[in-house]
Amino acid sequence: MRKPIIAGNWKMFKTRDEALGFIYNVNMNVPSSEYVDSVVCAQAPILRDLVKRQGDNLKVGAQNMHYLDTGAYTGEVSAPLLENIGVSYVVLGHSERRAYYNETDNEVNKKIHQAFRYGITPILCVGESLELRESGKTNDFIKGQVVVALKGLGSEQIKELVIAYEPIWAIGTGKTATAEMANDTIKEIRNVVRELFDNESAEAMRIQYGGSVKPANVDELLSMSDIDGALVGGASLDPESFLILVNAAVKK
Ligand code: 13P
Repeated sequence: MRKPIIAGNWKMFKTRDEALGFIYNVNMNVPSSEYVDSVVCAQAPILRDLVKRQGDNLKVGAQNMHYLDTGAYTGEVSAPLLENIGVSYVVLGHSERRAYYNETDNEVNKKIHQAFRYGITPILCVGESLELRESGKTNDFIKGQVVVALKGLGSEQIKELVIAYEPIWAIGTGKTATAEMANDTIKEIRNVVRELFDNESAEAMRIQYGGSVKPANVDELLSMSDIDGALVGGASLDPESFLILVNAAVKK
C-alpha cells in the first residue's frame, strides 16, 4: 500500500513571518505521518527556520536545487546545503522552471541523482501543455520526460521517488483535469516506470496529481486508484485549506 503524500508548493509566496505563522497554525493539527506525508516547499532563505519548527508530522522541502556540489553559480542552491539544514524533499523540474528558466530533462535527471546522493527525496514534476493534450500527444510527451529524468536510477531509488503529474493547463487556472483523466495519465506513467524498471518499484512509487487541487475537488481526485496524493500551489497557502487537503488524504 502506498502512503499518500500531500505537498504544498508555495512558489514565490510568503515572507518569513507569514511562513512561521502558517507552521504555528498547522503543526499541531497535521495528521500523523503514519497515515500521510505532509510537506511544505518554501523559498530557500526560510527553509532553515521552517525545519527548526517542523513538528514530527510535517516536513520541509525546497523548490529547486543545483546538480553540482559547489561552484561559481551565482544565485543557485546546493544539495549539500539543503542536507545540512535538514530539508527532506526537493521539487525538481516544475513546469514553471522548465518554462521560465529553460530547465531540460537532462538537467532534471542530474538533479534527481544529486538529491538521492544527499538523502533528499525528489518530487519530479512532469506534465503536458494544452496543445499536446488536444493533439493526443500527452502520453508520448510524458513518456519522453520520464525516460530521460529517470536515466541511471536504481530500483531502490524509484521506490523512494515521488512523481507529480501536473498538466500545465491546469496549474493556477482553476481548470482541473477530471479525476479519470488524471488517473489514466498517472497509470500510464506507472506503466512507463514498470517497463523501465520492474513491477515492484512501479507499484511502490508514489505519483501525485497537481493543478488546481483544492478542498472542493481533493476527495474525488484521491479516490482514484493511482493518485497517491497532490502537489498543491494556491490552496496550500492557507492553513485551514492545507489541513483539509492533508486530512482528506488520511481517508484514502
Ligand atoms: P495550483 O495548485 O495553484 O494550480 O498549482 C499547482 C502547482 O503548480 C503545484 O506545483
